[in-house]
Amino acid sequence: MALLGLCVRNGRGRYITKILSFGILWALTVYTLYQFRSITIDVPVPHLNSRFLLQKRMDPLTRHTDSTTESLSFDAEPFVDKSPMLTEDNLIEDIQKRMPNLPIVYWNKNKNKPMGHNNTCARFPSMFDLEFNNIYWQTLRTTNGTFQLFGAYLDKRPNNRLGPTVRILGMIDRIEPTVITYCQFWFDGRKDPVVAKSFEYKYIW
Ligand SMILES: *[C@@H]1O[C@H](CO)[C@@H](O)[C@H](O)[C@H]1NC(C)=O
Ligand SMILES: *[C@@H]1O[C@H](CO)[C@@H](O)[C@H](O)[C@H]1NC(C)=O
Repeated sequence: MALLGLCVRNGRGRYITKILSFGILWALTVYTLYQFRSITIDVPVPHLNSRFLLQKRMDPLTRHTDSTTESLSFDAEPFVDKSPMLTEDNLIEDIQKRMPNLPIVYWNKNKNKPMGHNNTCARFPSMFDLEFNNIYWQTLRTTNGTFQLFGAYLDKRPNNRLGPTVRILGMIDRIEPTVITYCQFWFDGRKDPVVAKSFEYKYIW
């Protein structure tokens, strides 16, 4: 009971303190506002850099001097991108051009049709289920064609007639590569690479 009484008294005391401090705060705010209203700001600071833009605008003394700037800054239109919005079809065509390996136009045309055998066999994949990326291809631009190199493999199988060989899997945007290429092999403990001329180009499919 004693504890309860203390709590109640304590709570009431806090309540009164709250009301008092709110009253003081309110009075301070009102007083401050009143003070601000009576200040006339005639400090010669550039209009736009002033931190009292509103007060300055209301002030009849400074109003006329700034009127041209004001009408300018308030009549001027902000820069707005008004170019026509891309339709979904345009957007998809744009993506198709940038990512030719992703059949997004075909997908978009057929996404709402019943494609595939049934629910469990040969389902039509959603674009959102594809894990599509091109990050593993290393690009090599030459004077006659651009190579996309996927990986390099050391072939030291005993039946390889060439002996230890490095085979590089890649593509080129030519029917047949004619450019001469060299490989540079970097070894631990050597400052410069061992250079070897490419022996042959082979189609693998
Ligand atoms: C789905 O189609 C495949 C191939 O036509 C068939 O073997 C399978 O039984 C079908 N599954 C269902 C649930 O109909
Ligand atoms: C580039 O290679 C092609 C064969 O792939 C050849 O016909 C053409 O003459 C070559 N161009 C130059 C500039 O060497």
